[in-house]
Amino acid sequence: MAELPSFRRLRRLRMKPALREMVRETALAPDDFIYPLFVVPGSNIRREVAAMPGVFNLSVDRLAAEVEPAVALGIRAVLLFGIPESKDEHASGAYDPNGIVQRAIRELKRRFPELIVIADCCLCEYTSHGHCGLVRDGVIVNDESVALLARAAVSQAEAGADIIAPSDMFDGRVAAIRAALDQRGCIYTPILSYAAKYASCFYGPFREAAQSAPAFGDRRSHQMDPPNVREALREIETDIAEGADIVMVKPALAYLDVIRAARERFDIPLAGYNVSGEYAMVKAAAANGWIDGERAMMEILTAIKRAGADLILTYHAVEAARLL
Ligand code: PBG
Repeated sequence: MAELPSFRRLRRLRMKPALREMVRETALAPDDFIYPLFVVPGSNIRREVAAMPGVFNLSVDRLAAEVEPAVALGIRAVLLFGIPESKDEHASGAYDPNGIVQRAIRELKRRFPELIVIADCCLCEYTSHGHCGLVRDGVIVNDESVALLARAAVSQAEAGADIIAPSDMFDGRVAAIRAALDQRGCIYTPILSYAAKYASCFYGPFREAAQSAPAFGDRRSHQMDPPNVREALREIETDIAEGADIVMVKPALAYLDVIRAARERFDIPLAGYNVSGEYAMVKAAAANGWIDGERAMMEILTAIKRAGADLILTYHAVEAARLL
């Protein structure tokens, strides 16, 4: 009798596609994805973002046509960013009941009542200086900005938003938004907080799409320092204590360890944001023929889910759903 090999044949379960599929540990589905959209004033506008091929600035009247294929593919949620007609120091466009995002929310809810419309809640697209809050003596102030965020959240919920997603990283915003929503009777409107959001260079293309690059300084006094992971858990714990219903880690790809740590520590739904720079890198390399764009996309999205994210915010949502 031949001697038994002294090693394990792990390849046995890799020899046939069906076997590989049977033992696959992570599966993506279209309802994992949240599809971000950028709404601009005007009509009949569908302008491609230079660094994000396949992503468009859309006027309200062109939104539905963009969303229709996503809904048909089984994507359940979109995330809305608004670029207002005019910006000022007080970000008044953010809490204008007839502002760009509020109008976009109404239009999408009218056309797709079942679609989950998530409103990004931040001031950076609405301030003339591009900061996420009010600026006094060169300092981005916290508490007064939070009060404006709460106003913006209420106006978004009243326009029909299904979920409010604060992306500013100021202290106390989740508690303030929860209190303001409850006071207005929006007790069933969940909060998806950008809980661990890092001061990352990977937001570069987004700031072109949202016209929200800060005119001076940076976001390091409120967004997190990239080397930290324990601090991310404190941020997430704080947001949960303040009333967040879903928490997010952002960016995703360079922060998979943070997603994993959050997954192990907390039992609440967790989202990862596959941000603009991550998308742009895949598109640029694929356009040069340096990488297989579709495979890179699926491998990245799978990694974010494998790390522990239940939900993935991604500009690839429609392309990826088509391949599933
Ligand atoms: C707004 C906001 C940003 C992103 C989402 N919400 C930009 C920033 O913080 O500068 C980035 C999204 C992306 O890069 O895809 N505060």
